[in-house]
Amino acid sequence: MSRRKLIAGNWKMHMGPGEAGPLAQAIKKAVMDVMVADVTVAPPYLSIPEVVAALRHTGIQVAAQNLHWESSGAYTGELSSEMIAAAGCTQVIIGHSERRQYFGETDQTVNKKVHAALRVGLAPILCVGETLAQRESGAEVAVVESQLEGGLAGIHEDDLQRIVLAYEPVWAIGTGKTASSDQAQAMHGAIRSWLRGRYAGGVVSSLRILYGGSVGPANAALLLSQPDIDGALVGGAALKADSFARIVEAAG
Ligand code: PGA
Repeated sequence: MSRRKLIAGNWKMHMGPGEAGPLAQAIKKAVMDVMVADVTVAPPYLSIPEVVAALRHTGIQVAAQNLHWESSGAYTGELSSEMIAAAGCTQVIIGHSERRQYFGETDQTVNKKVHAALRVGLAPILCVGETLAQRESGAEVAVVESQLEGGLAGIHEDDLQRIVLAYEPVWAIGTGKTASSDQAQAMHGAIRSWLRGRYAGGVVSSLRILYGGSVGPANAALLLSQPDIDGALVGGAALKADSFARIVEAAG
């Protein structure tokens, strides 16, 4: 089954109001001629309105980087999936390793967030990935499988169709160290076979698994040519329109 690739730019805590709109405009210009893949950008919360406005009618989707699982309530500093959808987002990154590492996210909170996103029709981009110590001890597949088990608890086939997975080895994020295309493909294959053990084949074959961790214009084509790598979640290289556009182009 052929899966349309997805290139998603995670802007992290960069590009506040006033900076995000111009970057979105530049991305629109650079990417429109090379839309050989689906394209998403994930700005910080406060910049979502101006990015949504800049990208209206382009087909480029806007994602949030996080959400809270309740619809509303006394949760200072949080935003609900309802609010994120109302702001014009169609997708949301969930369980990024920086959130797991610095903000105490667990597979259990990640799972609640996946359910909350689906409740309002936001497509979750669910992130999994092992640390360097876990890889060095040979535990990488077991770690990722247990993140999948936790993150996807209670998710049925119909819902799985709306989920995108992102494999991001923690040791490759922002370090300039990418997993080799063989290492990445091996993990993506392991993820797909884990899913095959739990869900119907058709749904699993159409599910997209992105790779993330120091993806840039120089390594994107090789990574994206692997049979189970269906796109990229891009951090640093997504903050410049031309490098982001070259990654999108490499998905063709
Ligand atoms: P990076 O970040 O491309 O800067 O390594 C990727 C990510 O954290 O999603």
